[in-house]
Amino acid sequence: MRTTMIRVLQVGMYMSVLILSHALSLWAQIPPGEAPALGPNRITQDAIVNGRLPLEDIQQQGRTLFATPFNKLDGFGDGPMNPEDPLAAGGRPTLQGNGTFLRVNGLDAQSCAECHAIVSTDTIPFTFGLGGVGGANTNVIARPTLIDSADGLGFGTATFDGRFINPPFVFGAGGVELLGKEMTANLQQLKTVAKQNPGTDVELLTKGVSFGVLRFENGRFDTSRVEAG
Ligand code: HEC
Repeated sequence: MRTTMIRVLQVGMYMSVLILSHALSLWAQIPPGEAPALGPNRITQDAIVNGRLPLEDIQQQGRTLFATPFNKLDGFGDGPMNPEDPLAAGGRPTLQGNGTFLRVNGLDAQSCAECHAIVSTDTIPFTFGLGGVGGANTNVIARPTLIDSADGLGFGTATFDGRFINPPFVFGAGGVELLGKEMTANLQQLKTVAKQNPGTDVELLTKGVSFGVLRFENGRFDTSRVEAG
């Protein structure tokens, strides 16, 4: 009996030593959720601007930032409800009041990579990578005010009045998008020119790309000679 007690005690001590050494080895690795997921070694915008960091370090930090699932200690969560108090926590409704997630709006990813992750669908499996596109399940419904997934209106239509948008490929997407915007603005100007000069051929030429010819006649646009650039 006594021996057994000692055994139990010894095992108990052995276990606590094990637990203690385990805890010590985890000291540097605080359990998930107890500390910011990004850790303390974050770089600052100043360090980038001042040229103190090699490009490779900046790229690696960018990849880490992109692929790290944020927790609340990293700043995960919705923005402030009161713009005059930017540090106050947001107060949007959450699923069953869980305080964090409201999946129906598609807002609840914890890292950039959860949405921008597919580089190619030509391979099996997909080729994944940072900065790719997202599948339809990662679409965002931006700025909805009406969410009717239960078809409360009874029209056979799940009414969402937000904009349903797919995460785009983000390698240089900003530059391409700006170019597209400038070309669209030019083409809109040419459309106005055509309207102001009925019966005149207006060549839709922007940034060296021709989209054919537009003409305004008898109160309507003739688009029969408009071409995809
Ligand atoms: C919940 C999914 C989701 C997550 C997470 C996400 N994005 Fe996006 N991202 C989108 C969608 C959807 C768009 C398209 C927005 C639009 O068209 O208005 C987008 C657009 C972009 C664009 C292009 C913007 C433009 O004007 O063309 C960039 C760059 C981008 N995201 C970077 C990021 C970065 C960096 C992160 C992480 C901090 C991130 N995204 C996280 C869904 C997501």
